[in-house]
Amino acid sequence: MSFRYTKRRLWAGICLLGSLCFGLAAVSCGPYQPEEPEGPDYFDLNIPTYFPTDVHVPADNPLSVQGVNLGRYLFYDGRVSGHSDPAAWRSCATCHLQAHAFEGGLDYAAPTPHAMLPLFNVAFNNVRYHWSGDTDSLERLIYLALTDPDEINGHPDSITARIAAIPFYNDMFAAAFGQVAPGAPVVTIDRICKAIAQFARTIVSANSKFDRYVRGETTLTDEELKGYLLFTTEEGADCFHCHGGSGNMLFTTYGFANNGLDPDSLYHDAFDRASVTGNAADKGVYRIPTLRNIEYTAPYMHDGRFKTLEEVIDQYSEGVHYAPNISPLMHHVTDGGVQLTEPEKQALKAFLLTLSDPGLLTDPSLSKPQDGRLP
Ligand code: HEC
Ligand code: HEC
Repeated sequence: MSFRYTKRRLWAGICLLGSLCFGLAAVSCGPYQPEEPEGPDYFDLNIPTYFPTDVHVPADNPLSVQGVNLGRYLFYDGRVSGHSDPAAWRSCATCHLQAHAFEGGLDYAAPTPHAMLPLFNVAFNNVRYHWSGDTDSLERLIYLALTDPDEINGHPDSITARIAAIPFYNDMFAAAFGQVAPGAPVVTIDRICKAIAQFARTIVSANSKFDRYVRGETTLTDEELKGYLLFTTEEGADCFHCHGGSGNMLFTTYGFANNGLDPDSLYHDAFDRASVTGNAADKGVYRIPTLRNIEYTAPYMHDGRFKTLEEVIDQYSEGVHYAPNISPLMHHVTDGGVQLTEPEKQALKAFLLTLSDPGLLTDPSLSKPQDGRLP
């Protein structure tokens, strides 16, 4: 019997399709149906060939598609504070704003004693986190962020209880970390920290104009090239020993240094490296931050003392303060700085602006999920 489309068959098909759709709609509006968890599936972190290959992923928290996805929801969900009153909700995204390369921006009044650090390329930080370097594990840092009264201000028990009470999260945790023995909780504070850490490790910024230049996809202007040369030479602006740029594409060594800020202003001595090591030689010493996306991450320095790149460049050019423990890599301290001319300052700034990666600010895979499940 040959198969022929008749009008009757067509109508029958349309009706069948219609009732199927109706059925599906009815199911999705109906009572909550737990899904059969699948996964976890390997997550492929897309790293440029010129980045370091020693990505810092602990053996007990490998990246998975499901774990990263879960972490993204938690990153944007104020209920992760564990509080029931929405006025008390805070999430990572309360402070780490995608529009500011995951910092707070100039108009953001951080309730924390320190200015912010950017939250991208953290998977390559194999050293220590925070301005003081007091934390050597991203999972641990996230636990501190969740519970610190200055940050998310949650209690581990109420955080887990609040998240476990949201049905879709139970499926997501099972999919990300596997089922647990009957009676054991699928949502734990340890798993919450791990999932957020997985998501944070996927925030990779590697598509600035300078990246495209390195990949041979674009050219730099004469002024930008002049700035690059200043950045990477000792007789120029002498930035590269600490902030990379030639070979070091993270634009930081992740080291610590006293870079000669005025010790009398703002919180120069609070939570510096000495607060961790107890060593007087570490006074006024802070983590060297990356200069990627520096256009978006004002204010600058650990205490946010500078609002513009011009102020920062003036500081290094003629505002350097001597300190007995100033970094030996601040070669021009006896001159008060690297002494740049006005055109040199402009060229240096033009180069710094080539480190902006606007795609990071709108990358939908890093944005708040828009499926209506988050408040
Ligand atoms: C109340 C604002 C606030 C909230 C909420 C917050 N952070 Fe932060 N974050 C900061 C500040 C400020 C710093 C820099 C603090 C310091 O180093 O002393 C920071 C630093 C970091 C760093 C260190 C980066 C580096 O290079 O060392 C990471 C990673 C980070 N936060 C991730 C998170 C995650 C993930 C969450 C959610 C669990 C979160 N933060 C919640 C304000 C916040
Ligand atoms: C001796 C190492 C060293 C050298 C050389 C150096 N820096 Fe820094 N830089 C640091 C440290 C450390 C900090 C953070 C200091 C703090 O917050 O107290 C910093 C902070 C910055 C910041 C602010 C980043 C932020 O996120 O707040 C900018 C911008 C900057 N440096 C640019 C430069 C430029 C441009 C040069 C060259 C003219 C330069 N640096 C040379 C160590 C150095």
